[in-house]
Amino acid sequence: MKWNKDGQVYMSYLRIIDPEIYDAIVHETLRESNKLELIASENFVSEAVLEAAGGVMTNKYAEGYPGKRYYGGCEFVDVAEDLARERAKQIYGAEHVNVQPHSGSQANMAVYFTILKPGDRVMGMDLSHGGHLTHGHPVNFSGTLYEFHGYQVEKDSEVIDYDKLIVQAKEIQPKLIVAGASAYPRILDFARFREAADACGAYLMVDMAHIAGLIAAGLHPSPVPYADFVTTTTHKTLRGPRGGMVFCREKYAADLDRTVMPGIQGGPLMHIIAAKAVALKEALTDEFKVYQKQIVANASTMANELKSKGYHIVSGGTDTHLFLMSFIDQEYSGKKVEKALDKSGITVNKNTVPFDTRKPFVTSGIRIGTPALTTRGMGTEEMRIIAVFIDRVIQNLGNEEVYEEVMKDVRALCDRFPLYPERKG
Ligand SMILES: Cc1ncc(COP(=O)(O)O)c(C=O)c1O
Repeated sequence: MKWNKDGQVYMSYLRIIDPEIYDAIVHETLRESNKLELIASENFVSEAVLEAAGGVMTNKYAEGYPGKRYYGGCEFVDVAEDLARERAKQIYGAEHVNVQPHSGSQANMAVYFTILKPGDRVMGMDLSHGGHLTHGHPVNFSGTLYEFHGYQVEKDSEVIDYDKLIVQAKEIQPKLIVAGASAYPRILDFARFREAADACGAYLMVDMAHIAGLIAAGLHPSPVPYADFVTTTTHKTLRGPRGGMVFCREKYAADLDRTVMPGIQGGPLMHIIAAKAVALKEALTDEFKVYQKQIVANASTMANELKSKGYHIVSGGTDTHLFLMSFIDQEYSGKKVEKALDKSGITVNKNTVPFDTRKPFVTSGIRIGTPALTTRGMGTEEMRIIAVFIDRVIQNLGNEEVYEEVMKDVRALCDRFPLYPERKG
């Protein structure tokens, strides 16, 4: 995929073979370039990651693991998977990793299937308090296969009270405690989670999907010393291709690997595993640490700026890459704000907030994250400007003229921080 002189994307084969998909990809590229991407779980991968993900390793069947495959011709995909495994273990100081899960959900499924039986009791964070669907929501396999009990944040502080968590764990006696979240803006205290697990003889699994990049850079404490299993996605703050990984202690390694293949997956996506290896190499650099620091600085700057304009920021701010604006006391919903911002060129997602009374499709909040814009090179000065845009839109809900004005300002800002600039010209 390349740009021509007018900044249009061209893909010489795709344009001819399948113009409809070509067109959709061109428009997606322009959307990503011309709008402000503030979805906390998204990022923009490097050209090198894109090349590996779009490469010929997509052709290869490689069921099994390096050196022990069910297919011939695996010598080069073995190189890719070995590099991914070694780099992942080096970054996180883990004893064992499986880099084959196709997604974060499958990484979580792999752990559940390794240590639980249907009907077992598990504790996970409630979805509306920051947890993920795979942490026991009734519409997800996790909530239908296992007896999940939710833990919550406190009403006044909007953070986890670990003393209460330990009391709850003693009462419920789960076999597994799941820590980690999709929408929790504060540092997670993994030592206290371990205390809760030890108080009832449970396993501890940490789903670090959102904060994997921060942990790699040493900006959030690591769960590895405390957890029996650590799962992650590779495409959020870690800035790799879409996929998952599971880390565990050596004593669980054989069981975990058997669960992933043949237990729940067949052939691994070798092009994606190669791209994971590339992203992990990037994560080992000093530039990556600087990048992660900037993500956190950007998130806290924008959260503070919006707070100073009178908005309710859940828990009062953030320690991480994301924060939540709560409209629980407002007439307008998360859905309405998401739509208005979208019309103004700003992409966020509506999100339930703790003790939300609106439905999940409406919600009383939005979630904002800074990994993607930080990848474009934006810093705290730009975050202050974007906070002004967001405030302007919310104060003028329903005013299409304001949306259009903001859209122009957004476009001008985006033009100053080109995405994939090497594709131009
Ligand atoms: C904490 C957490 N775990 C797991 C997942 C699932 O990842 P995937 O969408 O790759 O299945 C997500 C996705 O947003 C997440 O936030």
